[in-house]
Amino acid sequence: MKTLEWNTLFGEGARRIQASTIRELLKLTQRPGVLSFAGGLPAPELFPKEEAAHKAAAILKEKGEVALQYGPTEGYFPLRAWIADWLGVSPEEVLITTGSQQALDLLGKVFLDEESPVLLEAPSYMGAIQAFRAYGPRFLTVPAGEKGPDLDALEEVLKRERPRFLYLIPSFQNPSGGLIPLKARERLLEMIMEGGLVVVEDDAYRELYFGDGRLPSLFELSREAGYPGVVYLSSFSKILSPGLRVAFAVAHLEAILKLTQAKQGVDLHTPVLNQMLVHALVQEDFPERLERIRATYRAKAKAMLEALDREMPEGVRYTRPQGGMFVWMELPQGLSAEALFREAIAQDVAFVPGGPFFAGGGGENTLRLSYATLGPEGIAEGVRRLAKALKGLLALA
Ligand SMILES: Cc1ncc(COP(=O)(O)O)c(C=O)c1O
Repeated sequence: MKTLEWNTLFGEGARRIQASTIRELLKLTQRPGVLSFAGGLPAPELFPKEEAAHKAAAILKEKGEVALQYGPTEGYFPLRAWIADWLGVSPEEVLITTGSQQALDLLGKVFLDEESPVLLEAPSYMGAIQAFRAYGPRFLTVPAGEKGPDLDALEEVLKRERPRFLYLIPSFQNPSGGLIPLKARERLLEMIMEGGLVVVEDDAYRELYFGDGRLPSLFELSREAGYPGVVYLSSFSKILSPGLRVAFAVAHLEAILKLTQAKQGVDLHTPVLNQMLVHALVQEDFPERLERIRATYRAKAKAMLEALDREMPEGVRYTRPQGGMFVWMELPQGLSAEALFREAIAQDVAFVPGGPFFAGGGGENTLRLSYATLGPEGIAEGVRRLAKALKGLLALA
């Protein structure tokens, strides 16, 4: 067969998308017998399997001509209206997206040009970095920890630069688990308002709080202050099902209109049946469902922290999350999380090395552990194996 030099045929944007070494490594986590703390995969025991089977059948039977037809790009109106009611906005300000991941890509399309500055926390969500990178922006980063981004560092950056937007995950950040305290949210908003800047608030984990961690979102604070510059993203992935791919963006009408136009060219609309199913599922015992989810993750986080406290050697630091799905770990300086990954996979346990979460590089000694997927016993055993791998690596160092 004739050969083609595919790489010379792809466009600039496509050439920026690179195979991630991490994704290659993560393929190893699929091996049978591996206990994985790697993917942020919601607990399968929380999926509403029975209710979904029942409701999907009813939707197809009673409203099949809507469910199986093309739908509006903005989304299935009753679902938009339900979300609007939940968040106290108007339905026109809500755009249904095919996962928040799609919203991130649409935001890149709408706001970013080549070399335009975009500000992220370091570390930040790898999927957002990947989505934005395709548009060739210049990443500006500020260090972030358990209390969110370093606001003094952020202030310094904003003196020099005017990012097209700031991408922030204020509640139970992926990967760090960080939660920006209320006072810091207020200060952050002041800075944003002063600069007339746009913030993308990715709030995928907000409902997964364990104690009193449900703080007002930047979006809510901005509305109270009469400021239109916060684009709010959330998703049904962590509170119903990630496989349905139903999420939403909420923003000022002009921003929603532009995002809707961008979405038209991508997939016309999010699958109508999935939107109708989500709408049907949230009608019944939704608050109780959220309580069950919180209780489940609270118990899993506790199991992981107890195991870490028991097993981890000196010099390893890790966060104590107040919500969300992740523990963020720092190995002693000079120790590589990728090297640990190789040791760990030999012990049949996996996690995500932290490096790729840093858009500007660094973080080689960090890693993310997700407690969302395994049960308490799997978590305890996984941590035992991880500690064994780490002790092995420390003995070599
Ligand atoms: C911070 C954050 N944003 C967005 C997403 C993507 O979510 P979705 O399933 O809605 O595309 C994830 C998924 O893990 C995430 O952690």
